[in-house]
Amino acid sequence: MLSKKSAAIHSSPVRELLKFSKEPGFISLAGGIPATDMIDVEGIDSVIKEILAEDHRDVFQYSVTEGEQPLRESIAVWSKKSGLTLDPQQILITNGSQQGIDLLNRVFLEKDDVVLVERPTYLAALQLFDYTEAIVEELVYQDENIDLAVLETRLAAGGVKMLYLIPTFGNPTGRVIENAERAEIVKLAHRYQVVIVEDDPYGHLAFTTERRESFFSLAQKLYGDDHNVCYMSSFSKIFSPGLRLGWLALPEKFLMAIIVAKQALDLHTSTLNQHIAARYISSGRIDERIALLKETYEQRRDWLIESLQRHLGDAITFNRPEGGMFLWCHLKSGINASRLLEACVMEKVVFVPGEVFFAENPELNSLRLSYSMLTQERANEAGVRIARALQAISS
Ligand SMILES: Cc1ncc(COP(=O)(O)O)c(C=O)c1O
Repeated sequence: MLSKKSAAIHSSPVRELLKFSKEPGFISLAGGIPATDMIDVEGIDSVIKEILAEDHRDVFQYSVTEGEQPLRESIAVWSKKSGLTLDPQQILITNGSQQGIDLLNRVFLEKDDVVLVERPTYLAALQLFDYTEAIVEELVYQDENIDLAVLETRLAAGGVKMLYLIPTFGNPTGRVIENAERAEIVKLAHRYQVVIVEDDPYGHLAFTTERRESFFSLAQKLYGDDHNVCYMSSFSKIFSPGLRLGWLALPEKFLMAIIVAKQALDLHTSTLNQHIAARYISSGRIDERIALLKETYEQRRDWLIESLQRHLGDAITFNRPEGGMFLWCHLKSGINASRLLEACVMEKVVFVPGEVFFAENPELNSLRLSYSMLTQERANEAGVRIARALQAISS
């Protein structure tokens, strides 16, 4: 009964193992989810009360596909603080940035179009490209940076339709594409008329004061509104993932096609949820919350790093991300992270093996550890358990 496409997609063994993480006693470093204890329930409660006190019947009514105007305006005003100048009319509200990726996929890609992605990249984007039957190719790197000469040669050869990038504290690596490299990529994409999809759910969670300019902003400066960068971000990691709110910022020439695609998909994003977010931003609560999140996640990152250093020593190497939620790690060569995960399930600790984030030639000794949910005690215990599991598969 299933279409060929759906029939070909199977649940991965990793997904099966991660099911255990919900069981009592488990420590999960697997979920790419924000800290439940950091969701500002009181703030959300008071915003909802304000909305209802004003007898806003309209918030329970259908809305327009592009999104509620107060939210589009609040996002535009708020984005300016981080150096991104947007007209509210350029903004389209989505059900999380996952829907943003889906919409751009539908509007730009056809079977066999080539999408270039970082190595490694966000698993659920890879899954969407699979549905479209696009051909996914990984960018080539020189040291830690994208090799721009190889990129230019690839773009010049033709067939590339889209560059999908998570340039600030990416998932799974926590990596950053630096400003100079961003400008070069924008110019190349413009020269070869390739769409850049800039997926930015983590950029607001920076632990240092260093700021990167968005691809969207760089492209606007270089080419006015005649550019090909589609920016997307999300309220999931800075406010609440359960409200399912994200947004796209687009050059005008793409806007109508994407509005039509969203209309066909789900008409519009929840009206009430959009008003909650609009007030949460305009009241300034969001900035207070983000400041708290940054402090908390930086501390949790350090707890996890300390624990890994203490209990695993040189058996594991990792980066030190300047923001976001993930530690990207490598085990000593020859140790397979999926094999380690099996042993870790016995020890009641789980993570995501890095291999799932690669479009080709996976690094089998890589793993992603999320620190967003950790306490100091749990971070320490996670290290103890992983070390025991490692011992078990090494002996
Ligand atoms: C890189 C990236 N893009 C998009 C998403 C989807 O987020 P949401 O749909 O909750 O906004 C995630 C979630 O983890 C992500 O890591």
